[in-house]
Amino acid sequence: MALTITEKIIKHHLINGTLDRGRPITIKIDQTLVHDATGTMAMLELEATGIKRVKTDLSVAYIDHNMIQEDFKNPDDHRFLQDMAAKYGVMFSRPGNGICHHVHLERFAVPGKTLLGSDSHTPTAGGIGMLAIGAGGLDVALAMAGEPFTLIMPKIVKVNLIGKLPSFVSAKDVILEVLRRVSVKGGVGKVFEYCGPGVKSLSVSERATITNMGAETGATTSIFESDEVTRQWLRAQGREREWVSLHPDIDAVYDEEINIDLSLLEPLVARPFLPDNVVPVKEVTGIRVDQVMFGSCTNSSLRDILTIAHMLKGKRIHPNVDAGLSPGSRQILLQAGAEGALEDLITAGVRILEASCGACVGMGFAPPSEGVSVRTINRNFYGRCGHTSGKVYLASPEVAAAACITGEIADPRDVFVEPFYFEMPSGLIVDEGMFIAPSPEPEKIVVRRGPNIKPLPEMGPLPDKLEGKALIKVGDDITTDHIMPAGAKFLPLRSNIPAISDHVFEVLDPTFAKRAKELNGGFIVAGANYGQGSSREHAALAPKYLGIKAVVAKSFARIHLANLVNFGILPLIFADVKDYEKIDQGDDFFFDVTQLDAEFRGTLHDLTKNIEIEVVCPLSADDLKVVKAGGRLNWIKLNASNDRR
Ligand code: F3S
Repeated sequence: MALTITEKIIKHHLINGTLDRGRPITIKIDQTLVHDATGTMAMLELEATGIKRVKTDLSVAYIDHNMIQEDFKNPDDHRFLQDMAAKYGVMFSRPGNGICHHVHLERFAVPGKTLLGSDSHTPTAGGIGMLAIGAGGLDVALAMAGEPFTLIMPKIVKVNLIGKLPSFVSAKDVILEVLRRVSVKGGVGKVFEYCGPGVKSLSVSERATITNMGAETGATTSIFESDEVTRQWLRAQGREREWVSLHPDIDAVYDEEINIDLSLLEPLVARPFLPDNVVPVKEVTGIRVDQVMFGSCTNSSLRDILTIAHMLKGKRIHPNVDAGLSPGSRQILLQAGAEGALEDLITAGVRILEASCGACVGMGFAPPSEGVSVRTINRNFYGRCGHTSGKVYLASPEVAAAACITGEIADPRDVFVEPFYFEMPSGLIVDEGMFIAPSPEPEKIVVRRGPNIKPLPEMGPLPDKLEGKALIKVGDDITTDHIMPAGAKFLPLRSNIPAISDHVFEVLDPTFAKRAKELNGGFIVAGANYGQGSSREHAALAPKYLGIKAVVAKSFARIHLANLVNFGILPLIFADVKDYEKIDQGDDFFFDVTQLDAEFRGTLHDLTKNIEIEVVCPLSADDLKVVKAGGRLNWIKLNASNDRR
């Protein structure tokens, strides 16, 4: 049987299930990654499983998100992760080594293998031909403990690339074009598999930009074939022996097909506040720009930095513009320095920030109030850049460089003359000195826990009869940033659920947490694609801590749905989406979990309106048992104690 790339990798890793679309499968996970914003909780969860050492081929913990050290909380988290990594057999990437996705691509990603990461942009490694999936921290902790990962067998979309990108148009424009066509919901339940003659014109870093931001479509993941370009990348990293050729069979059958002629693309931007709000840059030229941010895990490769440096060399940034660059990794920083690019950028007036995430969520580099920030990052959600009055336009490095010079959104083809043609160096600066290998004597490791690292809260089982108010009613495309904000104020609380839960829905409704506590929890009512965006399990864990029993929505984003299950919150979908309109915030609800029928349909009673609303629980029978137990850790403990009896 002819297979796609995705099918080949899944078949090789399949533990349960078949390649039939839409049905649950379990696969073996070869590698995992966590970072400091999700990793402290994942490590506490790993500890709670009772295992002594991780069972994957490789697990890595990166310090890249919470780098600000204005008090003890972030440094304590870093130290805790370092100790836990040493004890449990996890490679530790020290602060300063770079952003997890970039460093993983450089040093560990392998074509044909599987990677599960507690970050929604884990698909970055798909740029090298790895099946790389983002998940909640608990799923990653369980994969580290040797459990297979369960997912719904996705549909596979062939993205057929032909032609070659014109000058001043780059990989970011390819993924913005995909988003323009399919929207932030268009990838749900799908893998985007990039093939065709246009692929060979893209470097591995450009491919990784595309697979990274494929997460914004809601896709399970995105992947490229592994070819001679991939081999050259691995050779430059001193890892050519890890290369394998990976292509779809000639007569592989795809569920859908998208055709993109690269030569016809033009510079694009995504306007605030969604990544699919995409228009040609020509339509928004002239908007005054206050800030430009280069970098993040999407566009901070050597290719990107050399491109920006080429464009800004010998020029000065506009007096209205504050410009900063977050390089993807220490390797890129060193290499860009060796090639003179950093000098060109610093001379032009660009601030060189750390090789870290910070600025991506506004930490250390946020726009002024009501300001416009042109950013090469992947998300421009409301409040994503550190506060809610900044307006973020997502753009390629070329468009961002044009904004830097002109002080307004501009078409780079009107600003620059000489395009830059990137050639991958045959060898890169490889220095593994910022990794710390696991301890050979784990029993001697004493894990240091600062006062901000609180134990996992106890989760009680879900009662059969759910009663409470609709504590909040929100619209479509609510992101995990809306539910549990990121940024300098919140990230240091990620290891402290009681403290961080006070900020649930803060950007939408600052009184939500207080109300939830006073009313002893209740229900959330939401529109379509609820929980899109990051893999942040705190967007389920903190609401659970506040007593949320169920979320009734038009539809859910994949990772958030899994996180609701993992933390024992019942997801329900309106059988008729028009019923969403009948409900108001503050209505009293009653739902009897035991009356779900064989197809998992049930009736939600709105006692205030005196109406009955048909709902469907979008779970398997096994997942419903997990929710009823109060979450996956309770479920595991319950089964372990049953086994002992
Ligand atoms: Fe970090 Fe932003 Fe990427 S937070 S992992 S640089 S999306």
